[in-house]
Amino acid sequence: LKKLRIAIDGPAAAGKSTVAKIVAGKLSYLYIDTGAMYRSLTYKALSSNVDLHDENALNQLLSETTIELEPSEVGQLVYLDGNDVTDEIRQASVTNSVSHVAVHSGVREEMVKRQQLLAKEGAVVMDGRDIGTHVIPDAEIKVFLLASVDERAQRRHEENLSKGYPSDLEQLKGEIARRDKIDSEREVAPLKKAEDATEIDTTSLSISEVVDQIMLLVERKG
Ligand code: C5P
Repeated sequence: LKKLRIAIDGPAAAGKSTVAKIVAGKLSYLYIDTGAMYRSLTYKALSSNVDLHDENALNQLLSETTIELEPSEVGQLVYLDGNDVTDEIRQASVTNSVSHVAVHSGVREEMVKRQQLLAKEGAVVMDGRDIGTHVIPDAEIKVFLLASVDERAQRRHEENLSKGYPSDLEQLKGEIARRDKIDSEREVAPLKKAEDATEIDTTSLSISEVVDQIMLLVERKG
């Protein structure tokens, strides 16, 4: 089989990481969660009181930062400067700030450079917002996952409750919509379907149905 590069983009909480992990597992490919990289920098900035609107300070911070993504049974462990921050980067404080960090062009340039290095050898499933448009514009397979805000909030709500986290459905709807708005309206590499991406509306699909559709695309390329 060829070592394909599979780009999965879409708005917040559309199920990208769930689906990407399963597809990567089936193909024995590397799964790379690029959102975790922006989240890690955001977590570090918040922890070290760096102003999220100060682009130079963030560029400097990122230049002194290592972010490692390590495959694991749960999908992926995230190491920030050698420390496991897999859980910390999912905190609400990070989720609600990360889009402000991700608007800066210098930050994005450096992140994209690191992501391209990770994807260089192929056999990767990478998820994010700009993978098909900027990180791997020549990816063999590009998927854009969509679902309504209500559906995405509902799924995230159920996920939170099942993990025993406190969760407020209306609040989730607001947070998801706000994050999508910032991600879609930013000047540099906004969230956008690549022209040659296959759009999958997951609103009324199960996880395995979405996975099957992507595997079909893979088989056609194989
Ligand atoms: O995918 P996840 O929800 O973890 O991404 C967190 C945030 O990181 C997104 O809302 C977006 O602001 C930013 N991001 C990005 N480009 C990517 C991946 C994530 O701007 N490729």
